[in-house]
Amino acid sequence: MMTISVIGCGYLGAVHAAAMASLGHRVIAVDTDPHRIRELSAGRPPFHEPGFEEILHQGLRSGRLRFAVSGTEPELEQAKVHFLAVGTPQSPVSGAADLTALEAAVDDLARVLRPELRPIVVGKSTVPVGTAQQLADRLEPLGAEVVWNPEFLREGHAVADTLHPDRIVYGLSDDPERAAYAAGVLDEIHAELLAEAIPRILTNRPTAELVKMAANAFLATKISFINTMATMCDVTGGDVSVLAEAIGYDPRIGRRFLNAGIGFGGGCLPKDIRSLQTQAEELGVSQAVGFLREVDRINLGCRSRVVRLAEAVCPGGLAGTKVTVLGATFKPNSDDIRDSPALDVARRLVRAGALVRVCDPCGLPNVMRTHPDLAVATDLEKGLAEAELVVLATEWRQYLELDPQWVGGLVARKIIVDGRNALDRDRWHRAGWVHVGMGRGDFMEEAIGAGVIGVGVRQ
Ligand code: UDX
Repeated sequence: MMTISVIGCGYLGAVHAAAMASLGHRVIAVDTDPHRIRELSAGRPPFHEPGFEEILHQGLRSGRLRFAVSGTEPELEQAKVHFLAVGTPQSPVSGAADLTALEAAVDDLARVLRPELRPIVVGKSTVPVGTAQQLADRLEPLGAEVVWNPEFLREGHAVADTLHPDRIVYGLSDDPERAAYAAGVLDEIHAELLAEAIPRILTNRPTAELVKMAANAFLATKISFINTMATMCDVTGGDVSVLAEAIGYDPRIGRRFLNAGIGFGGGCLPKDIRSLQTQAEELGVSQAVGFLREVDRINLGCRSRVVRLAEAVCPGGLAGTKVTVLGATFKPNSDDIRDSPALDVARRLVRAGALVRVCDPCGLPNVMRTHPDLAVATDLEKGLAEAELVVLATEWRQYLELDPQWVGGLVARKIIVDGRNALDRDRWHRAGWVHVGMGRGDFMEEAIGAGVIGVGVRQ
């Protein structure tokens, strides 16, 4: 057992803190937001994440997990290891990662580090390359070691990803003695994980910082690639789902992350590809990652494409049409609506004149708070009533399991745009629906361009 601190109780930090406590460590987790600390201390998760509530309660009950407002916790200085898990959101001005919270956390930490403990500061946040070295330059003279240990957790799978990650990366000092000491302490923390033979990669700090952004940029590229193929399928009569399956059997390609649709969103992928571009520009190699601009453009294009598709399949167009959007969160099993393609599509439909109602099993409180102008339906049946078009925007299990007969009895017109290619189209066809997928050969791009409404839509 080791005493550790976690600084920042957002998505990453709160899950990390509870997961570390579940491994048997004594954890003090701090955050500047008193409300968040109150909620977590009372065992109430501030976000939806399967499995989190259980390990949070376990940790609190065991007495190994405590939460405190930053600056009010004297025991912080007793921690051997301090995990930095504060947010590094995209700056609205420059597109770069905003490091304000990280800098403030490090200022606080610098005041409590005790050199006799030889503490280790472990960065988990996603940061521009060079940040870890800057922290090391500042904290090493105070007797601390700095390691970059990126986190690859996916929302909706955060607990499992933290306790059973695909790999563990330590970005260490170039000084062999410092590196060996820090790696040894981190190995002790991760002993249970390492016993599962999870690969552990020891490298320098810039590599560790880049690994995280590279992984997210690669995933984003994979999604935009398949969405480009979806466009090709639309103009040629191909089916992107079959195409993805066929290329996915090649182990060099792999089937995962080849689901075409309205594209990626969330707190990581969009931010990280933009941050990587900004860094490349600053480092004078912007052309090296120029393709990421294209990845971003293709991704945003998916959102406008689905709206054009919706416009085209509605007799009379979108103006005044009652549209029910199923899904608001950026992915299922999460209440996160940050940069959500689903929500963006809903707003674009509103701008196109549609009368939109948004349904979501988990995300509506966040939608109501941030988009009070958007009409939501907390009751699915009411949300679907009299709809003239249904758009599936987030592939929640509840929506995939909907009975098309039942839905057909509620709506005014049986047309569904499947923005995630996630529905069993034969089942919906059998129930008399017009099912329009993304890149499923239903709809010729030229038909939309020519304004030939409905041409190419398979019944
Ligand atoms: C991502 C990375 O997967 C994770 O490793 C990293 O630590 C944080 O960023 P997350 O943001 O939780 O995780 O979401 P992810 O599951 O990667 O999905 C991102 C977006 O891509 C979602 O909007 C999802 O709907 C979309 N997506 C995913 C697709 O459009 N098609 C796919 O095939 C897969």
